[in-house]
Amino acid sequence: MSGEKFTRREMMYEGKAKRLYATDDPEVVLVEYKDSFTAFNGEKRAEMSGKGRLNNLISSEIFEYLARNSVPLHFIERVDELRQLAVRVKIVPLEVVVRNITTGSIVKRLGVEEGMKLDRPLLEFYYKDDALGDPIVTEDHALLFGWAHEEDLLRIKEITLRVNDLLKKLFAPLGIVLVDFKLEFGHDSKGSLLLADEISPDTCRFWDSSTGDRLDKDRFRKDLGDVLGAYEEIYKRLSARDK
Ligand code: TMP
Ligand code: ASP
Repeated sequence: MSGEKFTRREMMYEGKAKRLYATDDPEVVLVEYKDSFTAFNGEKRAEMSGKGRLNNLISSEIFEYLARNSVPLHFIERVDELRQLAVRVKIVPLEVVVRNITTGSIVKRLGVEEGMKLDRPLLEFYYKDDALGDPIVTEDHALLFGWAHEEDLLRIKEITLRVNDLLKKLFAPLGIVLVDFKLEFGHDSKGSLLLADEISPDTCRFWDSSTGDRLDKDRFRKDLGDVLGAYEEIYKRLSARDK
C-alpha cells in the first residue's frame, strides 16, 4: 500500500462487525468495518452495503470528540471510509452497558416499564462469551473469576459514566436522546486501560427527540425498515454540527 503510513499484515481476528489486521507496528492494529448486521447473538443476519462505511465514520467522529475530551482511547485515527488505526489491546471480557431510559433486555428480564427515564445512569456488566450468550454478571463475578481487577473496575465505571455525560452532551443539541449503549475496554502493552471497540448505532440506542424515531440497530432487530437511512441520519447530524 504505497503512500500509506502503515502496511496491512495478516488478519488477526474477524468478528461479527469488524476485521482486525496486524500492521508493521506491533502496538497498532488496522480495524476494518464490515457491511454485516447481526442480532440476537448472531441468530439474525444480513448484509447491507454501506453499513461498514457509516459505522466507521460515526465511530470515528465520536472517538475524535472523546479524545478531545481526554478520554483514554484505543482509537488513533480514521484511515479511510472503512478503516481506522487503533492501539492493540487485550480486551477485558466484559460488555459495560449504561442505561438512561428503560428498553430492550432490561424490560424483558425485569418486567419494568418501557421508556422509563432513570433517576441516574444504570450500569450493568455482561460477560463477553458468545457461546453463553453474553450473560449479565456482577462485579464480584468479574473479580472472582479473574476477568478484571478491582482497579480496572473502578476505572471502567469512572470512564463509562464520563462517556455517558459526554455523549449526552454531544447528542442532545443534535435532537438525539442517548437511551443506552455498550462499551468495551482493553489494556495496551504497558497495562494502561483504554476504551476500545466501537461506538455506533450498532452499540447505542438513539431516539429522535422530537419524533421518537429509532435511529439505531433496533431498526434491524425489530424489522422497522430503512435501517441505513437511520445510520445516515446520525452521521449527517454528527458531521454537520459546529465543532
Ligand atoms: P440490551 O437492551 O439488548 O441489553 O442492549 C443494551 C445496549 O447495549 C444497547 O444500546 C445495544 C447494546 N448492545 C451491544 O452493543 N451489543 C450486544 O451484544 C447487546 C446485547 C447490546
Ligand atoms: N451484537 C449481538 C449480535 O450480533 C446482539 C445485538 O446487538 O442485538 O448478535
